[in-house]
Amino acid sequence: MQPENAPRPTSAGGWSGRFDEPVSELVKRYTASVDFDRRLAEYDIQGSLAHARMLNACAILPAEDLAAIERGMAQILGEVRGGAFVWRLELEDVHLNIERRLTELVGDAGKRLHTGRSRNDQVATDVRLWLRAAIDQIDIGLRALQSALVDLADAHVDTAMPGFTHLQVAQPVSFAHHLLAYFEMLARDRERFVDCRRRVNRLPLGAAALAGTSFPIDRARVARDLGFDAVSANSLDAVSDRDFAIEFCAAAALTMTHLSRFSEELILWMNPRFSFIDLADRFCTGSSIMPQKKNPDVPELVRGKVGRVNGHLVALLTLMKGQPLAYNKDNQEDKEPLFDTVDTVLMTLTIYADMVGGIRVNARAMREALKQGFATATDLADYLVRQGVPFRDAHEAVARAVRHAEQAGCDLPDLPLADLQRFSPLIRDDVYAVLTIEGSMASRNHVGGTAPSAVRAALIEARARL
Ligand code: ARG
Repeated sequence: MQPENAPRPTSAGGWSGRFDEPVSELVKRYTASVDFDRRLAEYDIQGSLAHARMLNACAILPAEDLAAIERGMAQILGEVRGGAFVWRLELEDVHLNIERRLTELVGDAGKRLHTGRSRNDQVATDVRLWLRAAIDQIDIGLRALQSALVDLADAHVDTAMPGFTHLQVAQPVSFAHHLLAYFEMLARDRERFVDCRRRVNRLPLGAAALAGTSFPIDRARVARDLGFDAVSANSLDAVSDRDFAIEFCAAAALTMTHLSRFSEELILWMNPRFSFIDLADRFCTGSSIMPQKKNPDVPELVRGKVGRVNGHLVALLTLMKGQPLAYNKDNQEDKEPLFDTVDTVLMTLTIYADMVGGIRVNARAMREALKQGFATATDLADYLVRQGVPFRDAHEAVARAVRHAEQAGCDLPDLPLADLQRFSPLIRDDVYAVLTIEGSMASRNHVGGTAPSAVRAALIEARARL
């Protein structure tokens, strides 16, 4: 038996008195998070300073200790930013590393900082501060991409391309109209992130380990100090809630999904069979063996990166599934998926805006493609309906006309009037006005339609929404 006051092996964590042996090297590495959570350092310092100011205001921490903490933290911030801070694996995570350094610098004041808090509410606060800033960056990225889309669309209101369903030529659409479809998807993405931000922006600090603290703290003051909209209402929920990270990843997965759809189209359009567009060389690479190749690497990679972002969403959902209240060490696993999601989305958005700005459009190829798919067949059917033919009968008459044109090897507007009249005696020579690509597009001139007049109005709206 060792006497009560015999020296114990010291674990770096600050709980040494409770343990008989230190953790093994492997366990140390297994449980440490400092290699990735050091990204939170600046937010950890911010949170600690707000906590210390509140402790002082509530007469829990003397003014000279607050001053020492502020002085120490200023130095630590400089060390972190300048890369001089020495991160120690045996200190497990960002929180203990910073707290230990603070104590080295300012002594007992550093040891008093942790009064009335726990790493459980501390880490939840740090992640929320970090994610809030990331969401603001993502909003800027989404907006920049929207603005690149609008700029490109501006130049192509009158550029006709085949609109597709089932990837078969369906009806003529304005290329600008097509681009603005992505503008709308990104607009919804922004709404989702803004909405998610509201739930990110609540302060867990004060929940301490799980049950709150016995000190007379002022949580609202800390919330105000750190720019949180509110404090979390339940301490158990505060330390264990990761919904905010999950819904963020869900919003990110949708953004990436949208960009993967756009990417797939860019890849198709760049194929010589389409030749609708060309991407600037800086987004493509060649082949090490096939000298003729110009591959759309960037859109392909965007399409591929959706896999990892969707994976992170599933990882976080799985992380939380079945977790009992309150904090569990499992939660340390929330950071890498979240960090990588933010990194992936931000980088993708930045590259994408630049790539859209560099798209060269081959309007002639788009028009050629339109001529091959009987894209104005619906317009002919609508014409017959206006002459009093029931739509189903008109549909059938036009289907037969298309078949005839196909056999003749031409498009509908190339058929002579006499030929067209074989399918309905109601067809007169004014039919050619609706059989043209321009006529077809111009007739869809309602809100949300592809008529150049409608698209021009949509563009003005879009710019105003930016
Ligand atoms: N590194 C931990 C995490 O990321 C911090 C909280 C640890 N709390 C604890 N009681 N072990 O979740």
